[in-house]
Amino acid sequence: MPSLRTQVGIVGAGPAGLLLGHLLHLNGIDSVIVENRSRDYVIDRVRAGVLEQGTVDLLNAMGVGAGLQRAGLRHEGLYVSFNGRRHRVDFAELTGGKAITVYGQNEVVRDLIEARTATARALYFDAEDVSVDAIDSSSPILRFRHDGVDREVRCDFIAGCDGFHGICRPSIPPAVLAVYERAYPFGWLGILAEAPPSSDELVYTYHERGFALFSMRSPRITRLYLQVPPDEPIGNWSDDAIWEEMLERMTTRDGWQPNIGRIIQKSVTPMRSFVAAPMRYGRLFLAGDAAHIVPPTGAKGLNLAASDVLVLARALKAYYERDRREWLDEYSDICLRRVWKAQRFSWWMTSTLHRFSDESAFDYQRQIADLDYLTGSQAAMTSLAEQYVGLPAEVSFESAGLPAAAQAVPTT
Ligand code: APR
Ligand code: PHB
Repeated sequence: MPSLRTQVGIVGAGPAGLLLGHLLHLNGIDSVIVENRSRDYVIDRVRAGVLEQGTVDLLNAMGVGAGLQRAGLRHEGLYVSFNGRRHRVDFAELTGGKAITVYGQNEVVRDLIEARTATARALYFDAEDVSVDAIDSSSPILRFRHDGVDREVRCDFIAGCDGFHGICRPSIPPAVLAVYERAYPFGWLGILAEAPPSSDELVYTYHERGFALFSMRSPRITRLYLQVPPDEPIGNWSDDAIWEEMLERMTTRDGWQPNIGRIIQKSVTPMRSFVAAPMRYGRLFLAGDAAHIVPPTGAKGLNLAASDVLVLARALKAYYERDRREWLDEYSDICLRRVWKAQRFSWWMTSTLHRFSDESAFDYQRQIADLDYLTGSQAAMTSLAEQYVGLPAEVSFESAGLPAAAQAVPTT
């Protein structure tokens, strides 16, 4: 059996695994990335697309921000819509010039695969039977089959970046993991449509028929979401029915509504909040969706994956360069502080903007009052804005071997 050796074995080539691999590469640390899907599948998978200011800064500091600077759409605010009116929350004004950038996660992944390929470090797609072993020893092992050949990689550490359904989290003895979970009684039906976005910024709508979200991917592509029952079969929704419901929920009194176009993708996603702690067992470190899931309302998933791997890269750099182990020991606690704040924000956005089947007429009026307060109070809008653009990273870029965070580069 071909036996390989690396410093860090990385399971999963999503944003967490690819970002970690590149951060390690920039610090001269070797890794092997093993992904069970194909390259095309990973690139084409449609996911969210909102990058916090800090994630944009991170990609730029890592030298992988060219695509983002070319095609990312910088947004300095968003709209909250209810009772037929849109109210703007001005991020730039409320946060001292910060913004978010709309750039599809699949584009981020494409850029990172390109960067990885240019380093000539190992990246295996279409791996089968991926497993990890001896994770509580000083020499954990990553096994998989590729092109019909069984492979074994001896590692110093393993990074479990294999998403919610991966194999790394289940490899940790259940007795040492605490799991915190909340399922929501609805899902999101999402579409991509060939239609120029009719607003320059996102619109989060609370409507008596349920939540709706207006977003975009490019000057030609609109991305829209509708609150639907959980596990709603997508086959229940014809394109005409989707448009009718979108317009019903989103059209405002001043006549604003999304532009209609050909629907080129549609799917239903369940909504869940989930945290597994600690994010480390022995020499296995979980990062991104493998350790935590947020409902998409706060657009935090990819951003949390990025902040986890920044913390992990700093700890591994300190270990290899100075034999310092404290940051490895502190990894989980440091990540979880930011994770729980993002969990709280995502839960709040979700609770504030969706209709719940068990709510009373009182709850509906209270929710309207919440939104009325939010959009009328500078303090409340500042709180939303600073969380939406992203709370500060727990560690500095320099400590992970990167140039200091450059001030945001305008991308439009
Ligand atoms: N072996 C190897 N790879 C695996 C395995 C396995 N057994 N199981 C899953 N994977 C791969 C998946 O195919 C996927 O490419 O791990 C990768 C995990 O990537 P993501 O699910 O994108 O998770 P992550 O990198 O943590 O990024 C978080 O993804 O879910 C979104 O909204 C979320 O934006 C957030 C981001
Ligand atoms: C998206 O553009 O896909 C998107 C935007 C904001 C969200 C979730 C998803 O909160």
